[in-house]
Amino acid sequence: MSAVLVTRALPPGPVERLAASGLVTDLRLHRDDRPMSRAELLAAAAGCRALLTQLVDRVDEELLAAAGPGLALVANYAVGLDNVDVAACTARGVLVSNTPGVLTEATADLTWALLLAVTRRVVEGDRLMRRGGYRSWSPTFLLGHGVTGKTLGVVGLGRIGAAVARRARAFGMKVVYASPAPKPVAAEVAAEHVALERLLGEADVVSLHCPLRPDTRHLIDAARLQAMKPTAFLINTARGPLVDEPALVRALEAGWIAGAGLDVTEREPLFEPGLAARDDVVLLPHVGSATHEVRTAMGDLAVDNVLDLLEGRPPRTCVNLPGARDGR
Ligand code: DGY
Repeated sequence: MSAVLVTRALPPGPVERLAASGLVTDLRLHRDDRPMSRAELLAAAAGCRALLTQLVDRVDEELLAAAGPGLALVANYAVGLDNVDVAACTARGVLVSNTPGVLTEATADLTWALLLAVTRRVVEGDRLMRRGGYRSWSPTFLLGHGVTGKTLGVVGLGRIGAAVARRARAFGMKVVYASPAPKPVAAEVAAEHVALERLLGEADVVSLHCPLRPDTRHLIDAARLQAMKPTAFLINTARGPLVDEPALVRALEAGWIAGAGLDVTEREPLFEPGLAARDDVVLLPHVGSATHEVRTAMGDLAVDNVLDLLEGRPPRTCVNLPGARDGR
């Protein structure tokens, strides 16, 4: 008997395929369009062979214990795994998979949407139009910052960082990147490896693409915001806690940087109230991968991992088999 918990309704297709496989005797699908409460999650996980989790579900010792010894796989519906205690899973012999690759291009597109929106004041202009604030064309009206000939600083040159860097060429931007070690893909996307401190001092746009881990929490703190150019913009489509958000508000207020485009915030769905009042900030509700195609593809990949397990194969994007990487 294989019980599988799917903690949130997915776009149509993948879960129906899981149900039709005949391999799941007890499919527990949380159909409400809200995250499961902790109590619901702990209760529903009991006796499951696999959990198909969302980035809002905390997968930790408590949940693993509640699931019990039959749990074999946590298939996370996200490429990021900061909600999963992978070490605890590994210690219990529970496999963990994520959804790399399928969301790379959509997230890179959204990064550029934010980058252009904040540098060219797109949302501010839209708000102005809607309140009837456009009086006449003027040479000095609503001026933004161009990107051609400027420098893009990519922090973390994984798949998404590289896809963002690749697009920079089309906009005539030079790319520098910071990562613990030089990346082979850098040559293909014409990006120069530099230390983070140099990147912060040189880049006109700093875009974050590294995973959230204990050592990257508040990677961008007050000191690093102060190290950026006063004309530079910060873009974050990775994870909110990479940035010290109160420090970001101070940086904007003090003019240490020129603006920020954020698809993620420190305590989602909440964010520092100081951000909402600012025209030099564009805020989005964590929609980097939110296209019909990609959210279905993420579901298909998560379900493929579950089916791999149930059919006796190693889950295809498992991150804690020997030699596995998280693929971000
Ligand atoms: C992820 O996959 O980690 C994104 O944040 C959601 O698609």
